[in-house]
Amino acid sequence: MRIIRTKDYKDLSRKTANILSAQVIIKPGCVLGLATGSSPLGTYEQLVEWYNKGDIDFSQVTSINLDEYRGLTHDHEQSYWYFMQKHFFSRINIRPDHVHVPDGANPNAEEACREYDRIIEEAGGIDCQLLGIGLDGHIGFNEPADAFQMGTHCVRLTQSTIEANKRFFSSADEVPREAYTMGIRNIMQARKVLLIASGEGKAAILKQAFFGPVTPRVPASILQIHQDFTLIADEAALSEIDAMK
Ligand code: F6R
Repeated sequence: MRIIRTKDYKDLSRKTANILSAQVIIKPGCVLGLATGSSPLGTYEQLVEWYNKGDIDFSQVTSINLDEYRGLTHDHEQSYWYFMQKHFFSRINIRPDHVHVPDGANPNAEEACREYDRIIEEAGGIDCQLLGIGLDGHIGFNEPADAFQMGTHCVRLTQSTIEANKRFFSSADEVPREAYTMGIRNIMQARKVLLIASGEGKAAILKQAFFGPVTPRVPASILQIHQDFTLIADEAALSEIDAMK
């Protein structure tokens, strides 16, 4: 595990975008595993800026997003599909047929999840997976559990995640209760994994996930044993790890 320390969120976003753009330049037809949420917004913004300057070309890239709320269609403003279009895909030259997000509109969970595993496999696996981390240690929507879930699956969101995500909806009642998410195997099979975290709010979970035991109770902790895992975090997010020294 490598740790890249950044001064603040802006610095974190630039360094993360740097790694992703290097990946695209080295392998123009690469497969990027992408995340939604607040953490990657600055990274997408930076990549769009470099795209506009002509420094990066996404025309051969395939993207595979981590997760989607079950029951939300593409045109729902809180769907992760909508989020990715708004903040990233509609602003770069990625081919629409190269963009993948689990099909939240498919009520058949088994079918939606098997289909997503097939998409990942047919793409040849993920070259570089970008992750955020939930306050309970979730990655994608892999919530704390008794065992690591392997492939794409349907999850019931925990109260902590519903609380954290309600800021995007008019009320907590509006937050969908279930989601489709890539599993831990899908994430661990990515050739390179980046996890980004910013702000004091993430300090305790970073210490627990990366300096505590590997356990499905803290799903992100499994990344400790990934062969090419980089944590990119700002000083505030690293404060509890620093305090251990
Ligand atoms: C998003 C995702 C989630 C978020 C996590 C952190 O696709 O899979 O695991 O990465 O909830 O969210 P933020 O970045 O909003 O703190």
